[in-house]
Amino acid sequence: MATVVSFINYKGGVGKTTLAVEISASLAYHQKKRVLLVDLDPQTNATFYLVTVAKWKDWANEDKTLKSIFTAAMDEPPQEIDVHNVIHKDFLRHPRTHEIVSLHLLPSHIELMSTDMDLAMKFGARGFEARRILRTVFEKIKDDYDYIICDCPPNLNLITQNAILASNGITVVAMPEYLSTLGISEIEKAVKKLVGEVNRSIEGFGKVEEPTIKGIIFNRVSTKYGGTVTEQGIMERVRETWGDIVFKEFVSHSVKLAESAEPSKSPIAISGYAADSVYEEQLKKCASRFSERN
Ligand SMILES: Nc1ncnc2c1ncn2[C@@H]1O[C@H](COP(=O)(O)OP(=O)(O)OP(=O)(O)O)[C@@H](O)[C@H]1O
Ligand SMILES: [Mg+2]
Repeated sequence: MATVVSFINYKGGVGKTTLAVEISASLAYHQKKRVLLVDLDPQTNATFYLVTVAKWKDWANEDKTLKSIFTAAMDEPPQEIDVHNVIHKDFLRHPRTHEIVSLHLLPSHIELMSTDMDLAMKFGARGFEARRILRTVFEKIKDDYDYIICDCPPNLNLITQNAILASNGITVVAMPEYLSTLGISEIEKAVKKLVGEVNRSIEGFGKVEEPTIKGIIFNRVSTKYGGTVTEQGIMERVRETWGDIVFKEFVSHSVKLAESAEPSKSPIAISGYAADSVYEEQLKKCASRFSERN
């Protein structure tokens, strides 16, 4: 039965996508978990991290993206969609062993940009109907995976709310800098408020369990050895508030991580090259902690 985890931070550019993809790849390759990565962001970055734009265009032309799921739910009457049809498999091979990595992808679509507005118009911005679409879809595939990992956009729109209400836990990615850590308690409050609102409005549907923050991972730490004194101070303060939820494992800043986002390169978490081993190891440790917590 899959555990669903959403990677969230209101703050943009902190590494949600990078860590969602890399940790998914590490779970799939090193831990042999069955992983589905769901790209919820219209920026489509997690998708382009793994496949070329040309490949994505093929999928988009065949209506095999996340957009089809939301469109089908908004049809009159709503269409039943076979979710297996929009999930892509066998696109990732280990660069050295050429083994197929058990990472599946539900790709995003740039046109999801307007889906939030469409959902609000169709169902009303506060209704459970607009927010339970992914939850219903995931129910159908939960037995196929160990983890379903949602890479969320940097906002709390209806698509992100769909991910939250379908999740068992939340992973917050932050950078060791003041502004990137400010919003963590706001995320917790927003999730509580959302779940509370939904639970008050859905008599007869059963209660939605609140997904709690089960991990805070620091990314772009400026050295391999744990960061500058200032960064260490910031991480310590976050630890004082959040305790053990903060991973002691972290990912350092490296152009190699930025480069591994090119689809011609494999995720660095499964690189297998000695030159990348520091980062592969960091990600492997984060993925181990992740699976211990989720
Ligand atoms: N550890 C790292 N070292 C160097 N560059 C990194 C690292 N992690 C992420 N980056 C780069 O930082 C940028 C932002 O990363 P990413 O897209 O993962 O953030 P995000 O939080 O998903 O952003 P958004 O909020 O826009 O979705 C990207 O260009 C990425 O390649
Ligand atoms: Mg992102």
